[in-house]
Amino acid sequence: MSEKKAILTVDGMESPQELPVYTGSLGPDVIDVRQLTSRGYFTYDPGFVSTASCESKITYIDGGKGVLLHRGYPIEVLAEKSDYLESCYLLLHGELPSQGQYQEFVNIITHHTMVHESIARFFRGFHYDSHPMAMMCGIVGALSAFYHDSLDINDSEHRVISAHRLIAKMPTLAAMCYKHSKGQPFMYPNNKLNYSENFVHMMFGTPCNDPDVNPVIARAIDRIFLLHADHEQNASTSTVRLAGSSGANPFACIAAGIATLWGPAHGGANEAVLNMLEEIGDEKNIDTYVARAKDKDDPFRLMGFGHRVYKNFDPRAKVMKQTCDEVLNALGIENDPLLKIAKRLEKIALEDEYFIAKKLYPNVDFYSGIIMKAIGIPKDMFTVMFATGRTVGWIAHWHEMITDGLKIGRPRQLYTGAPVREFPDRATRPSHNPSF
Ligand code: CMC
Repeated sequence: MSEKKAILTVDGMESPQELPVYTGSLGPDVIDVRQLTSRGYFTYDPGFVSTASCESKITYIDGGKGVLLHRGYPIEVLAEKSDYLESCYLLLHGELPSQGQYQEFVNIITHHTMVHESIARFFRGFHYDSHPMAMMCGIVGALSAFYHDSLDINDSEHRVISAHRLIAKMPTLAAMCYKHSKGQPFMYPNNKLNYSENFVHMMFGTPCNDPDVNPVIARAIDRIFLLHADHEQNASTSTVRLAGSSGANPFACIAAGIATLWGPAHGGANEAVLNMLEEIGDEKNIDTYVARAKDKDDPFRLMGFGHRVYKNFDPRAKVMKQTCDEVLNALGIENDPLLKIAKRLEKIALEDEYFIAKKLYPNVDFYSGIIMKAIGIPKDMFTVMFATGRTVGWIAHWHEMITDGLKIGRPRQLYTGAPVREFPDRATRPSHNPSF
């Protein structure tokens, strides 16, 4: 703790309130406002724009400089030198694994990839055209009904087994969502394949035609998972922490995270990017859509542009753009009309005064959507891919919160509703316009 103090005075306060100021290892100082409630005040910060909700040692972001560190390692370095499972180990344990620890971790994850056979029956209850994210919310929450031998959140071994199960089973469940929508048989994981190769096998293979796993595609998928692995206290991670703060089991908490991720302002943006490109339809329409995005009276936004924290560039987007170029080259896809629109839109927005002034750059979802389209992953699966990669981040934060000491999350509010009033007789009440 630093010696710094913040002094708060409010009209009518008898003496100023001294508030402790903490200095982290990186980033801005933080004012501790916890004592304010005893003086009869709350702080007000909708959207948590200026609020640190917890202490964490997992991920650091400097949005102004475009820096993203996992346990101190820059994301660009991890993307170049590491792989998804090694980065999972790093996020969970705080240090990179030795060779032996890495092999052991890969082995454990590989041997947890199968799901309980009854889960296949559970899937059959979903309509064939259910959105995969709807299935993921339901199925991941339901895992607690299948793996209730490891739900004691106060038992560290239970927490570890649940973490391994979730990381290992997410690609299997993701592929099952796709297979269910296609009416094709589910594919079992193959222990001879690595994590991302296995995903390709379960997505695109059939019992009669095991696909050759294209290494370019497997590498791109590994990179998509890695670049989505964690992102500090974003909406879905904060949701997982809030859900977990009540002592809820990890599968229920991750299901809550998946539900939050689904929204188009968060993980749903990658699907929204493709929907937008399809809506634009032709390069000649781009100017109209850019003008709409700039029009204050039009709710339309360029999907895949802008970020709450990154105001210079999104370092994940830089790596994703590179991967995108590699994949498009390797697959020989250059003339796809939607990809042409995407490239042109990127160029126009990067040069447009409105986007420059508001610091709106292409974010990770802009390029990941393009890569996944090129690979042949249907657009309603895009957010499922994000959820699969992000599972380790959710689990790492959930575990950190429990080991730091659970305190239920319970924000307060600025109440602006009606004061106490008399209950009128129904016959005498005037009608009103329903507001909801
Ligand atoms: N297109 C056009 N204008 C935009 C856009 C956009 N994509 N994003 C922000 N603006 C404008 C916005 O209208 C506002 O203008 P003004 O100051 O005149 O009112 C200004 O920029 C600031 O926007 P904001 O909504 O106050 O910023 P925020 O930090 O609350 O929102 C955001 C961040 C990501 C939700 C927003 O930029 C957005 O909706 N982007 C499109 C959706 C998207 O791509 N989301 C994925 C985020 S990255 C993946 C993840 O981490 O989940």
